[in-house]
Order: sequence, then C-alpha cells, then structure tokens
Amino acid sequence: MDVENFRTEEELKEAITRLKKEKKAVILAHYYQQGPIQDIADHIGDSLALARYAATLDDARIVVLCGVHFMGETAKLLCPDKKVLVPDADAGCSLADSCPVEDFKKFIEAHPGHTVISYVNTSVGVKALTDILVTSGNALKIVNSLPEDEKIIFGPDRNLGNYINSITGRNMLLWDGACHVHEKFSVEKIIELKKQHPGAKVLVHPECKRPVVLLADKVGSTAALLEYTKASDATQFIVATESGILHQMRKDCPEKTFIPAPPDDAATCGCNDCSYMKLNTLEKLYRCLRDETPEITVDPALAEAALRPIERMLQFK
Ligand code: 13P
Ligand code: SF4
Repeated sequence: MDVENFRTEEELKEAITRLKKEKKAVILAHYYQQGPIQDIADHIGDSLALARYAATLDDARIVVLCGVHFMGETAKLLCPDKKVLVPDADAGCSLADSCPVEDFKKFIEAHPGHTVISYVNTSVGVKALTDILVTSGNALKIVNSLPEDEKIIFGPDRNLGNYINSITGRNMLLWDGACHVHEKFSVEKIIELKKQHPGAKVLVHPECKRPVVLLADKVGSTAALLEYTKASDATQFIVATESGILHQMRKDCPEKTFIPAPPDDAATCGCNDCSYMKLNTLEKLYRCLRDETPEITVDPALAEAALRPIERMLQFK
C-alpha cells in the first residue's frame, strides 16, 4: 500500500508497526529526529547510545536507523550481517563532510607519532584512519584515560576539540571542521533570552562555538543534557542544540519550560534545525520498511579498519 492510502498519522504508524513485526526490524532514532519518529522508535538515544544498541541487536533481521548516514554506517559496521536501512539516503552531515578522507590522511602523515581520535560524525574512510572513536557522550572520558603526555590528533570537530583542550589542559592538534547547525547559535540572542528568563539554565552541546559554551550551565551530549533537565530543580531551560531534543525534554518533564536557543540568522522561527536530520519523515520510514531500501553498505576493504576504533570506544564503560 502507498502512503496516500493512509487517512491519518495513526494509520501510518500502525502500518509501520505491522511491517516492523513482520520483517523482524528494529527502529533506532536519534534525538534530533521529528517527534513522531522518536515516538514510534524502539530505542531513541544520542549517537553513543545508538551505537551501543546496534551492537546488541541479536534477534533483528533489519535495523532502521532514523538519523543521518554516518549513524547508519556505524550500525552496519557493528552488525554486518543485518540489513541496515535509512529512511533518506541524502541525510548526510556537514561535520562529516568537513573532513575529506584524503586531506585527513595528509594531516595525519604531516604529524607522525600522534594518536588519532575522531568523533563518530565521520565517514567510514576517516574512521579507518582513526585509533579511537569518540562521541560527545564519552570524548572527555576517553581523552582523559590517555597518558597526559600522549600526542593526540583530534578530528573533525574543532569546537568539541577546543572544549576538551580547555577542560583537560591538553594541546590536542585539531582538525578544522564544524557542524553548520551548532556553529550558528547566537551569543547575543542567548544573553537576551537569559534576561527575559533569569532563572533559566543554559544547556549547550560541545559542538557549539566557545563563546556559546562559556554561557552554559551544562555542556554535554544530547543524552547528558536530557538527564540534566530531569535532575535539575530549575523549571526553565534555554537549549543550544538541534531543536529535535526538545521533544523528549518536554515529554519527560511536561511541567518545565524549554526554550530553543536561536541561530544568528533566525528571522521569525526561533529554532535551529539540522536540515539533514529533518529529511526523515514517517512516510519515508514506512516506504523504507516496505521496500527495504535505501540500504547502507560499507566498503569491505575499509570495514575491518573502521570497526576497530569503534570497538575500542565501546570498551569504555
Ligand atoms: P550526540 O548524539 O552525540 O549528542 O551528537 C549530536 C550530533 O550532532 C549528532 O549528529
Ligand atoms: Fe551533522 Fe550537525 Fe546535523 Fe549533527 S546536527 S547530523 S553534526 S550537521
């Protein structure tokens, strides 16, 4: 049946749930997905949690990764025997794109004797050049576990790298990449919001620029920010990360107020959306389950080398 035949969103959701059972599929969704996709997913999480779920899905035949392409690739590397699908093959990532494999290779060759740490938001080719992979949820812990005098290359996110350098006092060599969504938050507009809501806590993802990080009451991955809102006595929060996370925050704490931090260029809309994340829709999720496409494949020549740094990361509890 095609999506036009469903009269309501509920009917579409029922069809997705039916297909999921028939096909032994599991749906994983990132916190930046549209609310209805988060609601229908079997597991939602930050990129670390999604990698952990993917590593333990023994009974599933199909994994549908509702997120962006590199997340699908990470799942495929962790479950090579399963069919890994994404609702929209064009859901890429500007941060991963800011680190082309050949250029990163030259950078590493120009700085011998360094341990290479890469953020999970990278291509399979970059992962294959990496010693240890990190996410925003474990980057600090993993860097801290290395000897203080260890020479480190950190890529591709200069903001996360800068943040870790500032906290640890290290001098990691940084690749000059960034995420177009997180770089856009406006310091002036966050200060203005703070004036309007003096009791509000400012929550910031470490992919944001340093001046925004300096305004934060809490810096952390999407999961860490979510946990903070649940544990905090505060009732108002200004949230400087992709606006999809507000869905879960509002679900978990309906009595609290969550205000999306605006980007520099917001004319009327106060949110900051990732255009890649928001390519996924319930309709595309239905079609992808029905047709079992688009499917994620990984170059077999790179798979072993790309899996190694992921496994090293997952050894950290
Ligand atoms: P986390 O899920 O690690 O918080 O990362 C955010 C992100 O930008 C994913 O694309
Ligand atoms: Fe990539 Fe930024 Fe979108 Fe995350 S929010 S998927 S880092 S472009």
